[in-house]
Amino acid sequence: MRVLRSIDELRSIRAHSIANAQKFGFVPTMGALHLGHAELMKVASDQSDISIASIFINPKQFNSASDLAKYPRTIDDDLAICTECKVDYVYLPEISDVYPEGFDTSITPGSLGSLFEGASRPGHFSGMATVVVKLFNIVQPDVAFFGKKDYQQLAIIRRFVTDLNFPIQIQGVETIRELDGLALSSRNAQLTKEERIEAPRFYEILKVFNRTFTSTESLNDAIAAALNEFQGLDHFQLDYFEIADQATLQPSRDISKPLVALGAILGSQVRLIDNQELQ
Ligand code: PAF
Repeated sequence: MRVLRSIDELRSIRAHSIANAQKFGFVPTMGALHLGHAELMKVASDQSDISIASIFINPKQFNSASDLAKYPRTIDDDLAICTECKVDYVYLPEISDVYPEGFDTSITPGSLGSLFEGASRPGHFSGMATVVVKLFNIVQPDVAFFGKKDYQQLAIIRRFVTDLNFPIQIQGVETIRELDGLALSSRNAQLTKEERIEAPRFYEILKVFNRTFTSTESLNDAIAAALNEFQGLDHFQLDYFEIADQATLQPSRDISKPLVALGAILGSQVRLIDNQELQ
């Protein structure tokens, strides 16, 4: 595993891989790597001739300076995880390469960006989309890997890749969970003891919901039952729970289409998100 810091270095590796028709697989991250990121890197390394991860804490996708300051910085551990996962390269961009002096451009997702997470984190998806577009232009991968845990992020990326004609395949990777079902997230560390005990209920509610409908009527009953379960949580408040089209994320009850159940719950310090594609 080799660390790259400059765009020129990266471009010459990329040019070589294009000349040799090698598939270039990319996993963008903000560091604080956990087993969910490790899975993305393993999949990238298995499915690409050359795999590259990036670590860049993107200031533009945080809602406040204090959130950005609190974000864990664990570069030594992160690089050890990248080595274990056998990625070929890790790109650590200079801030001035991502946001040069006078930077004045942004990518603003349309309706997909204002729903759900977008409603409670104004500007977040614009900051995320702007940096992902920049990283795509710098790295020029053939395929990029993103976790399904951040379902809305994945849907927004798929949309702008189509809308802006990026020649990049976007691959969603299944959510990695703790043994008790809690989706892995760097935010889990901020749960109180009581919240951590109750947090796996989130996934249980989504799973039970997914099993208990076969028609639009039973879907409505299952939604009511799930809402009831969410309201019964002792340590979390429901932020949203919605059934939506997998691509547009517009709320839908049309069970003949690919749907996803998306939710967010609020603890004392932290907000958890999770989802289930419906079968
Ligand atoms: O999912 C993340 O870690 C970030 O949003 C991403 C895609 C690396 C962009 O900063």
